[in-house]
Amino acid sequence: MALLVGAALSVLTPLRAVWLTLDAAFLLSLLLQLLVPPSWLPGSALLEDLVRYGKTKYGGPPRPAVFRLFDVPKRYFSHFYVISVLWNGFLLWCLMQSLFLGVPLPHWLLTLLSTLGPAQVQGGELALSPLLVLLLLWLHSWRRLFECLFVSVFSSGVIHVAHYCFALFYYVFLGLTVLSQVPMDSRNGVVVHHNHQIPFGHWFEYVSSPNYLAELMIYVSMAVVFGFRNLTWWLVLTYVFFCQALSALLSHRFYQSKFVSYPKHRKAYLPFLF
Ligand SMILES: NC(=O)c1ccc[n+]([C@@H]2O[C@H](COP(=O)([O-])OP(=O)(O)OC[C@H]3O[C@@H](n4cnc5c(N)ncnc54)[C@H](OP(=O)(O)O)[C@@H]3O)[C@@H](O)[C@H]2O)c1
Repeated sequence: MALLVGAALSVLTPLRAVWLTLDAAFLLSLLLQLLVPPSWLPGSALLEDLVRYGKTKYGGPPRPAVFRLFDVPKRYFSHFYVISVLWNGFLLWCLMQSLFLGVPLPHWLLTLLSTLGPAQVQGGELALSPLLVLLLLWLHSWRRLFECLFVSVFSSGVIHVAHYCFALFYYVFLGLTVLSQVPMDSRNGVVVHHNHQIPFGHWFEYVSSPNYLAELMIYVSMAVVFGFRNLTWWLVLTYVFFCQALSALLSHRFYQSKFVSYPKHRKAYLPFLF
């Protein structure tokens, strides 16, 4: 028994504990949305306010006036990607210097990484996978920043300030997670209006939120780079799966409640399944 507990603790590093907590929290939120009517839950108004953002806030229960004090414009999404481009660009730079020029990582960064727990690398896994994933994450952040600044047309939608702070933390923590997988010894369109319409065409014919499905696939592609053997990345992937499933479900219900003609065959998140 003591051996089992010891083995479990050596696998459950602080880093993995954070991801496991996020996995559980978003799985629970998704199950509550699917199975429990909001009126059954104490504090459900606050819970709903935390998980709903943007257009799905309008599809939810009426919001007490005090909740509006914690609203942040949804267009602040761009801040997450500014932080991600800067922070993950910095980590990428440090890692390249370390791998190619032998420059050690800054002391404070090494301390931070060792606090999060030792890298749990499989035999033969190289620093090349985390390097490639960090590069992909950085490019993805640039793409999302570009999208926020020049493609997305934000209406007056809002997010909860707690959600805003979580997302800032998320991109910093995600970069640290990737870096911690390095083995320690080597370490144009025209805007017509601001209403939400039914989207049609391409993947929208199958699911309400192909952008959330594509987000999942981005993280799956990073799992491929890690060779599907990296337990920590499986925890990250699980979080993204549940987090995006929750947003997709709320979005789907928003469309169904707003548009009587909403296509019946269309699923929320996964084609033909969910
Ligand atoms: N990895 C993570 O933890 C995580 C978490 C959240 C989001 N994300 C990613 O961030 C990206 C953006 O997420 P999001 O939740 O902002 O997506 P979204 O709600 O679909 O919004 C994207 C853009 O499309 C607009 N829009 C949405 N529905 C529309 C409709 N029916 N008609 C016209 N315009 C519409 C939005 O305007 P409004 O803003 O005015 O609605 C916004 O400008 C996604 O790729 C998502 O996967 C990742």
